[in-house]
Amino acid sequence: MHGFCYRNESLHCEDVDLQALAAEHGTPLYVYSAGTILDHYRRLDAALAGVDHEVAYAVKANSNLSVLRLLANEGAGFDIVSGGELFRVIKAGGDPAHCTFAGVGKTRDEIVYALEQGIYSFNVESAEELRYLNQVAGELGVTAPAAVRVNPNVDAKTHKYISTGKSENKFGVDFEAIAGLYDMAARDLPHIRLRGLQMHIGSQLTSISPFIEAVEKVAPLARLLKEKHGIEFWSIGGGIGIIYQESLESGSIDWWEKQSEQDRPLTIEQYGREIVPRVKDLGLKILLEPGRFIVGNAGVLVTRCLYEKKGAAKTFRIVDAGMNDLIRPALYEGHHEIVPLKQPATDGRVTVDVVGPICESGDFFCQNRELPDFQPGDCIALMSAGAYGFVMASNYNSRPLPAEILVEGGTATVIRKRQTLDDLVAGEL
Ligand code: LLP
Repeated sequence: MHGFCYRNESLHCEDVDLQALAAEHGTPLYVYSAGTILDHYRRLDAALAGVDHEVAYAVKANSNLSVLRLLANEGAGFDIVSGGELFRVIKAGGDPAHCTFAGVGKTRDEIVYALEQGIYSFNVESAEELRYLNQVAGELGVTAPAAVRVNPNVDAKTHKYISTGKSENKFGVDFEAIAGLYDMAARDLPHIRLRGLQMHIGSQLTSISPFIEAVEKVAPLARLLKEKHGIEFWSIGGGIGIIYQESLESGSIDWWEKQSEQDRPLTIEQYGREIVPRVKDLGLKILLEPGRFIVGNAGVLVTRCLYEKKGAAKTFRIVDAGMNDLIRPALYEGHHEIVPLKQPATDGRVTVDVVGPICESGDFFCQNRELPDFQPGDCIALMSAGAYGFVMASNYNSRPLPAEILVEGGTATVIRKRQTLDDLVAGEL
């Protein structure tokens, strides 16, 4: 479910009219629904109620301080991948003792900062990193809590750029090498406290089977490590997919009821039903690292159509957002539903490419897509842009970053100001 729907022919986020927001704050504009974020967090938490667990929100999906604060107030933990993300979590009032630190390339400065802040666990991605962590912790005279990321060699059946659990990916340590690595650490690395085990097989998984395969494969290893090394947690990663197609309709209960049982995309309740029984007897705390599931459908990117351009082969609608604002279509051929903010009076549809102003042919939001008609001057929403949207935005073509708004009921708050031209050159000499 999400907080976007038409009311009086006008697209709303919760009780706020998006056209009014676009008029007041300009475009391109990211708008998030706080109610949706909280609903997703709470539903996920409830789906895991049958086991000792913690939801560690993957900060990389959307790291705005206000989004983090919302989740920190709910009691969420955080999965971070840089010193910068740890800094954000602390600024937002999150507790470092509920942070796990992932990533294949942690620097010395990041390790020192995380040790000083007392994070819950380093999720270590190689034997070399584990040794280095031991060395740095030793130099500081402390012990580093650690979990090693196991690469279970399971096919996540998702886009090749966001699949992480196969042997050919750079992530984690081979399944077969894990037990030996823990034995080595227990024997040779006095500044490491083996606290858990971690895995993550990929992102945007829309079927339950790869999750089941990975959990069933790794559960015996988790049990062994608990018995032998006293680990206390197993993080089973993130990756729960969301609906990108029909993402406006899917916000309503009606849409869900119309889908047959087998066409219904993976729900969080199904995830809980399948996963909890497979992990609950291990006696381990189960961590989850969802990013996209929490924020993906909770955000849209509003952009205004500038021109229509009729070429010999195609019709283009040129909008004021570009691939620098939302890179998912260009980078992963990601699909974002496109809907006009003002519901058109007729059912007339057009087949167009919606493209941005950037000097790249990859700068498109859709190609040859049939859409409800909209005209230059009209605003449209790129749906499901709450995850990996603003966080992946750049200043390419010297375009200021868009503003971000958080809606709570009838209240809209600017949670990040639009960059100015001066911001663009701040820091340059
Ligand atoms: N844990 C780890 C170790 C991860 O690498 C990731 C995502 C997550 C958790 C959160 O995954 P999620 O629940 O959000 O699927 N930019 C891409 C997605 C990259 C995902 C990277 N890792 C996109 O726009 O599709």
